[in-house]
Amino acid sequence: MSPIKEFNVKANDDTDREHQVQLELLQKLCLALEAGATATTVHQIISDLIDYSEAHFMSEELLMRMKSYDDYEEHQDNHTHILEVLRDMASQNIAGEGALLKHKARDMLGFITQHIATRDKRLADHVRLGL
Ligand SMILES: [Fe+2]
Repeated sequence: MSPIKEFNVKANDDTDREHQVQLELLQKLCLALEAGATATTVHQIISDLIDYSEAHFMSEELLMRMKSYDDYEEHQDNHTHILEVLRDMASQNIAGEGALLKHKARDMLGFITQHIATRDKRLADHVRLGL
């Protein structure tokens, strides 16, 4: 396999694993909120999720720039939106409004699942095909 092809395969494998971790953290957040976990526990999970998402989005955005990817701006807008919502949720949790977050967390799980199935899938195809 050529070095470029190897790089592309590895990039997609890494991204798949990162999506899995991101979804697991979000699922953990949903379950914690639904189980009435303490604000401290919820804060820890949201913080982990935000930190992980920031790092993951940064690597995806770097890959898009390296590939001169045509859907970069819209894709990045999605990432910005996700981080804004997660940061708002963290603030609401700290403000003692954790009870309001159950539906937001489920909505976010839906949004990110959709993002992975559409924009991230398109990017993975673009990388895999060396477009
Ligand atoms: Fe993405």
